[in-house]
Amino acid sequence: MERWLAGEDVPLEQVAASVRAWVPFAADSPLYRLFATRIADDPALLGVLARIPSSPPINILFAAVQRLLSRDDALAAWYPRLAGDARPAEPAAYEAFRGFVLEREADVLAFGSRRTQTNEVRRCAVLMPVIAAALGERGWDGPVHAIDVGASAGLGLLMDTVAYRYDGTRIGASPLTLDCENRGAFDLPVAPPAFATRTGLDLAPVDATDPEQAAWLEALVWPEQTDRLERLRAAIALRASADITMVAGDAAVTLPAVAEALPPGPIVLWHSIALYQLPDDALDAVDDAVVAVAARRPLVRVAFEPQPGGGADLRVGLRPRETAPVALAHTHGVWIDRP
Ligand SMILES: C[S@@+](CC[C@H](N)C(=O)[O-])C[C@H]1O[C@@H](n2cnc3c(N)ncnc32)[C@H](O)[C@@H]1O
Repeated sequence: MERWLAGEDVPLEQVAASVRAWVPFAADSPLYRLFATRIADDPALLGVLARIPSSPPINILFAAVQRLLSRDDALAAWYPRLAGDARPAEPAAYEAFRGFVLEREADVLAFGSRRTQTNEVRRCAVLMPVIAAALGERGWDGPVHAIDVGASAGLGLLMDTVAYRYDGTRIGASPLTLDCENRGAFDLPVAPPAFATRTGLDLAPVDATDPEQAAWLEALVWPEQTDRLERLRAAIALRASADITMVAGDAAVTLPAVAEALPPGPIVLWHSIALYQLPDDALDAVDDAVVAVAARRPLVRVAFEPQPGGGADLRVGLRPRETAPVALAHTHGVWIDRP
């Protein structure tokens, strides 16, 4: 999606082109696909999008509407999360959506500077076996210090707290169970790795204990993804009693002091769908910081990131771009497979 400087002067053709380019990304949401397709030919709605400064504006618009929408609004009839028996995506849905946005334009634009930081706890289900194997290979049997780079709200740091179900195999016991297809028949541990400490590094940590920030995380989940919404709510509830430290700032800058301050013991550092948008020099800076920490104490790094050719993979190594993948995985943790 192209970026633009938000304001009255943004050419609407440019906004429309960006919306059209976004439509294929909405493959999983019939409602958003319909809305985006129609918005691209609707100057009034394109005008609203042009005044949203955060990127991508279409995601912000859709999340703002979900944040504002209540069961009593006519539009709610098409949102599965609000209407048990939601109506299918149809032209009337777009008319209701359009009416809602134009009527609540000022309220929608009030969310225009929010970030589109999502946090998908199910990614733990593909990270966990890879991390367990990496720790096992190094003979690190005891609790390790966990560091999640680009942790958002820190839900990935619940990795040792949630339960897992890989096809028929259950691991752990928890109010939250993550399902994952073990397509690659990876070895599974009898229990998730134990963490001595849990630290999340993020440019702008999300405080999921703040009801408004939690509500925004929920609003970013697409309307048809009701299972994802339930998982998010369960993870936020677990997060409330988990001992997790969040550190704000660029991980390349914050990591050295964070690692230095940890008690002795090995570190497992990972990142999931977090660093792929960084330019090469910023990635180099993160790599250099990790390598410097690893020179002083035992550290293993696991990267779970989308790849330029499509799909996402997992790599174990201090400089993941120089390392071959050990697994492929669905970006939301639905399955894990061999490369
Ligand atoms: C799409 S979210 C992914 C969150 C989480 N890892 C997950 O899997 O659900 C990416 C996060 O990475 C953070 N991020 C990006 N670059 C970063 C950097 N250089 N240092 C720290 N955090 C960064 C963003 O602020 C954002 O919260």
